[in-house]
Amino acid sequence: MADDARTRTKQLRSTEWFGKPDRDGFAHRSWMKNQGLPHHLFDGRPVIGICNTWSELTPCNAHFRRIADHVKRGVYEAGGFPLEFPVMSLGETLMRPTTMLFRNLVSMDVEESIRANPIDGVVLLMGCDKTTPALLMGSASCDLPTIGVSGGPMLNGKFRGQDIGSGTNVWSFSEDVRAGKMSLADFMDAESCMSRSAGHCMTMGTASTMASMVEALGMGMPGNAAIPAVDSRRYVLAHMAGRRIVEMVREDLKMSKVLIRKAFENAIRVNAAIGGSTNAVVDLLALAGRVGTKLELADFDRLGHDIPLLVNLMPSGRFLMEDLYYAGGLPAVIRELGTLIHQDALTVNGKTMGENTHDAPCYDREVVAAFKQPLQEKAGIAVLRGNLCPDGAVIKPSAATPALIKHRGRALVFENIEDFHARIDTVDADETMVMVMKGAGPKGYPGFPEVGNMPLPAKVLKKGITDMVRISDARMSGTAYGTVVLHISPEAAAGGTLALVQNGDSIELDVEKRSLHLDVPEAELQRRRAAWKPPQSSYDRGYARLYIDHVLQAHQGADLDFLVGKSGALVARESH
Ligand code: FES
Repeated sequence: MADDARTRTKQLRSTEWFGKPDRDGFAHRSWMKNQGLPHHLFDGRPVIGICNTWSELTPCNAHFRRIADHVKRGVYEAGGFPLEFPVMSLGETLMRPTTMLFRNLVSMDVEESIRANPIDGVVLLMGCDKTTPALLMGSASCDLPTIGVSGGPMLNGKFRGQDIGSGTNVWSFSEDVRAGKMSLADFMDAESCMSRSAGHCMTMGTASTMASMVEALGMGMPGNAAIPAVDSRRYVLAHMAGRRIVEMVREDLKMSKVLIRKAFENAIRVNAAIGGSTNAVVDLLALAGRVGTKLELADFDRLGHDIPLLVNLMPSGRFLMEDLYYAGGLPAVIRELGTLIHQDALTVNGKTMGENTHDAPCYDREVVAAFKQPLQEKAGIAVLRGNLCPDGAVIKPSAATPALIKHRGRALVFENIEDFHARIDTVDADETMVMVMKGAGPKGYPGFPEVGNMPLPAKVLKKGITDMVRISDARMSGTAYGTVVLHISPEAAAGGTLALVQNGDSIELDVEKRSLHLDVPEAELQRRRAAWKPPQSSYDRGYARLYIDHVLQAHQGADLDFLVGKSGALVARESH
């Protein structure tokens, strides 16, 4: 339905800018008109901000100008006024030291860009890993009507007749080269075969996980997660999101009405069923903190641990996102979860999760398993406790080696990432050891990078061994696999017990008992703690310094302490 000034009852936020007959209104409209915008667009219709993370430095989001064009078509069609604006983009494959350092910075960019401008509703364009949580977090702190539109995954990688997956096969191929099983020439050849279309990683890595979270939270249109970036239906979805956001403004359907506790519980369960990334834990905790919904690390285990693995995608399985779309996409998965999902949770299309998914078809049971015949029982993320991680640590059992989920071994310690790189090819090690990485948490690196899936020592790899227990205060890529304990909290740089581990100490992991224990007498730990000195940081100014001084620990979502919560969208003062 086209917008009609006579049917509008509530004055929109943008009218504070464009609806004034005075000097300020002149300035707000006149300069906008230099873009060729006709006067009738300023008649009080909903102004829709399209928040774009397009960048040629973020290849996963490089097609976003085209997606934005389709959103605009939908906005205009519904009687809205679309205005696209850029925010800092986060490209996972290029940025140093890690995109996670900048997630909170982008969230500030998003929040302040929305609040400072005449925007009534927002469409968030996001794809590469950290662009999704950054945009959700920033917009949640403003709390306007908001829809997330993901950019979609790349088509399946194809290498010599075999499907290969973003990230997952990078890790396996590089280990094959180190073990002498693959030539360097073949390794280089695989590069162009892996990333052959627009879109983000097509494994169930962090980008696909977070696109699924957007849908499971109710923040995206049904089908948002899996439609490939180059499939014309991705552009139809963008168009329909543009239409829908105009209606959402009229309905005043704000983010906080969607992101209630039930939405997060749905997301946790869906994340388990899809074999989703451990990154979802930190990002959902941070998002809940922004919107003021109570969520804690223990919820991921309590709500998700007994959820079966239903989606057969790399890194936990063998298919890719394109296959998931053809099999029915995320709606087919959510339908399988039945009463484990809050059917009455409201979603951005105005319907409940149950209404969106109750008759969702599944076209391929090899890709989306039936609930009664899952690929694996109890696939959710496990939250560990113990003297090594008093505030928690996580492990993804579906990506771990079953024989290692209960294991005791001697610590093989790397003090930081430089120490790891310097010694990994020469260190004397065997597969019974527990690899320990320090200094890779939020404050320590800084930025909480994805280095937790440490490559194995060369000596071990050469025996044909493919997994060892690895523990750290780091994250790991959602495309990675292995028996990897992550997000140890408190981190080493904050004086956590992890900082006190020494080579040869005995460490016991018992996933069934949810425990991670450093078997060193308390008196000895106290002696080591008294002698411990925090590592010197070379970051003495700028954003990184602000981050180190204010970042919360992993179990709290690694947001900046002063960003938790929301401030709404009101700004009373004019600029002149
Ligand atoms: Fe961008 Fe994986 S590198 S999604």
